[in-house]
Order: sequence, then structure tokens, then C-alpha cells
Amino acid sequence: MSIIGKVIRIIGIYDKLRNHFVDSLLVPFATKGQIGIREARFLGEITRKLNTNRPIIEIGTLFGRSTRVIAENMRKKQELLTVDIFCWNPCGLTNEHHKRIAKISLADTIEKLNVKIVVVDKKKFYEEYKGPSPEMVFLDADHSYEATKEDIDWALSVGADVICGHDYVENMPGVVKAVDESGGIEKLVDTLWVLEKSSKLK
Ligand SMILES: C[S@@+](CC[C@H](N)C(=O)[O-])C[C@H]1O[C@@H](n2cnc3c(N)ncnc32)[C@H](O)[C@@H]1O
Repeated sequence: MSIIGKVIRIIGIYDKLRNHFVDSLLVPFATKGQIGIREARFLGEITRKLNTNRPIIEIGTLFGRSTRVIAENMRKKQELLTVDIFCWNPCGLTNEHHKRIAKISLADTIEKLNVKIVVVDKKKFYEEYKGPSPEMVFLDADHSYEATKEDIDWALSVGADVICGHDYVENMPGVVKAVDESGGIEKLVDTLWVLEKSSKLK
């Protein structure tokens, strides 16, 4: 190790920088904004109950936590389109860095499990989607009332069998209001909700 390196370690700058890096980037990367462990199990369960090869659409990839859960539990021939414009992340990463990390962390699912990242604003995706009616739509992007209502209305308009999403919780009143107005909840695990019309799960 160079003399400068030794000095940096001895006077504690190295530890401070390392702690700063872990607290500001790795902790949010590993924990914030993503589905939790019980929610992941539930999402896996919902996905395994699907029984056609029609596509699954996820709105809100972030770093791919929920994407991976869906991909690992869907049918072999099923396709998962995960839509994100990479406008928000909990680490303060630039749009380009965010997108790059998501692509790297999902590389194996893209290569082996039929996952496609669609980099576009969800509104534009809704306007331009011409594919088959999705078997499931998982909503986890903008949690305002208007945006969630628009997401659910689109999923209903394309005839999705199962409509579900994240963050049905008191501090996300927009999600609660939009879901309740659209028929309410069929099942809730922690904050992961399934819309009542999702009769397939019964
Ligand atoms: C809460 S995170 C998704 C978390 C992810 N589902 C998980 O559990 O790991 C929300 C994501 O939605 C994306 N997003 C927000 N508004 C969007 C929009 N209008 N169009 C596309 N993506 C959007 C953000 O860039 C962010 O990556």
C-alpha cells in the first residue's frame, strides 16, 4: 500500500468514506422502495397461479427486485415486460447509472427467462401497447391517486386477468383511494394488493 494510502487509513478517512458509501448508496439500494420479503413470497404465489402464456407487465422496475420474483415464478414460455423510465431511485443515482444497474442486475433474467426492460414513460407505453391482453399487471411506479387510477384503468381496459401492485398503505393515500374506487382489495399481504376483479386467484 502507498504511503498516501496508509495515511488515509491511519487517520480514519478511509473508514469514513467507506461508511458514507455504504449508508448513502448500498443501504438504499438494498432496502428502500422495493417489495419486502413476505410481499415477494406472495407475488411469487400469485405468479405461479397464472395458467396461460399471455404476457405479464410490470410498471416500475427500479433495480429489479420484484421483476426477478415474477420472472422466477412465471411459466417458461411467458414473457415479462418491465417498464421504467428510471426517473426515481432511493440512492440519488443519475438516470444513466440507474438504468445501467437495473440492466446489469437483470441480465440473467433477460438472457434466460424472457424478461424485457422497456425504457419508456408508462403513459407512452399504455398508448402504444399493441400486444396480447396481459395475464397479469403489477403496478409499482408513481403512487399518486391520479397515476394509480390511470394504471388500473389501463390494466382493466386491456383485459388483464390479475391486477396487483405495491404500497397499499396509510402513507400512500393515493394508492388506497384508487384501489378502493376500482373495486377494492381481494387480498393484501403487508402492502402488496390484489384487485378484487382478479377472479382467477379464487
Ligand atoms: C418503487 S420503485 C419500483 C420498485 C420495484 N417494483 C421493486 O419492488 O423492486 C418505482 C419505479 O417506478 C419508476 N417510475 C416512476 N414513474 C414512472 C413513469 N411515469 N414511467 C415509468 N416508470 C416510472 C421509477 O423510476 C422507479 O424505478
